Amino acid sequence: MRRSVSFSIAFALFLLPLFLGLVETTTQNPVIAPEGSFIEAAPAHFVRGPTVNLVTNNSALIFWRTDAPMNSTVDYGLEELNLNLTVSNSTVVGDHRIALAGLAMGSTYYYQATSNGTASDVYCFKTAPADGAEFKMIVFGDNRPSTDAAPVQPQEFSDLVDLVIAERPHIVIMTGDYVHVVTESHSYNLDVWERFTNITDRLGHYVPIYGVLGNHDTSAYTGTLRLEYFFDAFEMYDEPSPYFSFDYAGVHFTLLNSEEQYDNGRITGTQYDWLVDDLTNTSRSMKFVFAHQPLYPLQHITSALDRNMTEMNRLQQLFEDKNVTLFGAGHDHLFDRLTVNGVVHMIAGGGGAPLYHTPWGGAFYHYVKVDVSSGQVGFTAIDLSSVTREQYQLPYDGPIEIEARFLANNTLKLNGTLPQFYFSENPAEVLYSWDGGSNSTTLTGFPDEPIEHTLDVYARDSEDLWSHERFLFNTFNPNWPSSTTPPTSTTTNGPPAPPMDFTLVLGIVGVISAVVVIVLLVRFKRK
Ligand SMILES: [Fe+2]
Repeated sequence: MRRSVSFSIAFALFLLPLFLGLVETTTQNPVIAPEGSFIEAAPAHFVRGPTVNLVTNNSALIFWRTDAPMNSTVDYGLEELNLNLTVSNSTVVGDHRIALAGLAMGSTYYYQATSNGTASDVYCFKTAPADGAEFKMIVFGDNRPSTDAAPVQPQEFSDLVDLVIAERPHIVIMTGDYVHVVTESHSYNLDVWERFTNITDRLGHYVPIYGVLGNHDTSAYTGTLRLEYFFDAFEMYDEPSPYFSFDYAGVHFTLLNSEEQYDNGRITGTQYDWLVDDLTNTSRSMKFVFAHQPLYPLQHITSALDRNMTEMNRLQQLFEDKNVTLFGAGHDHLFDRLTVNGVVHMIAGGGGAPLYHTPWGGAFYHYVKVDVSSGQVGFTAIDLSSVTREQYQLPYDGPIEIEARFLANNTLKLNGTLPQFYFSENPAEVLYSWDGGSNSTTLTGFPDEPIEHTLDVYARDSEDLWSHERFLFNTFNPNWPSSTTPPTSTTTNGPPAPPMDFTLVLGIVGVISAVVVIVLLVRFKRK
């Protein structure tokens, strides 16, 4: 009896934790130990993912990380409730990479990752469509925390990720600056990058993400690159090269590294030679190039890819020569789209980091939806309230766009300096007119008088249609262009004939006067 009571107490004590929920009940599968004997496998704890990566029109790579070495299985299929295909690997690993092959083009696949009997939720992704068929790309970035002391990812970034998930894109490109700083402390770096991947993996469940390296994502400035954290956050082609290219749905993607050690803010040397070969050797007619730093910054003027004007112009010329459709960047925490001689330059840097307010606007948190189909591209900048803030369509068939950008010598004193003008296509003819004066084919410096000056800029396209923009330059405001007071401009649509040259007017008046005099003289003689 006493023995029976003791046994009952012991049995109750054994069951108590189960009732209290103190013991985790998990389906466990036996795994084969290296020696060949069967052991009971520990339940899996998913540290990362699963995410879908390197998606083509017939393949994908599923990645996830467990907190201990375990086996790997991915069940997948075309129906959410019928994951009838399986790929397994009995080798126990912490980083699981399972390749799926033989997938159907332009299809939605459902998948579930399993390690040691513990399964993830079921997620889905889209395989690439046929070359030239329609697909949706999302571009965003510069989500980094505002300080290194409190490296919490901005709530705006998390909210944007939710909006991007709802877009169900085919592919995502991120434009850099994912963390505030990479330090000498391994534990700090692990912490800040985990905060980033905890958010991006939510998106990575559904769509492949490719990212360019930002200046905040490396400690190159202190002498050590420490790119291992960046590469750990993404599954990309040609790792550990920080620049690479790939084709997707007939579009050639090239991701560059603007943060070369000792050469940040430059695309030069070996990388530039590689870029020339890359853009030359591709047979794809549509080419998208990305880097963290823009060619035409609005905030980081002369401290982005424009820090060396010769190299900047060389890159622009290369993009024109190779028919690059889009150059996407971040670095400036804003949205901007500037078309220069047919090349669309887009800054998508409003991913959550503190916004930059410049005279050109665009200071709102956003992602950019890029709808691509054969020969056509639609760019839509969408803010945190899901409001469309900018829309632009290729092919563009409007009048030449004329945009003013930074002052060539970046001085705060405007007198004697020149603004920089860019045209959306190479104009057949350009005319400039200061303060309503005569037209000139060359732009001279600001007038000396310290007042507000107008500058009319006229551009004629290949079909003899004139575009006209009037810019106001406040030469006594020493803070422009860093001031938030914008230089105002107006656009004249319709037939923007250039103003008549004063000498031309004099000539016409002279000719008419001469004709009148001759007619009067003839009449007088006849009388
Ligand atoms: Fe940056």
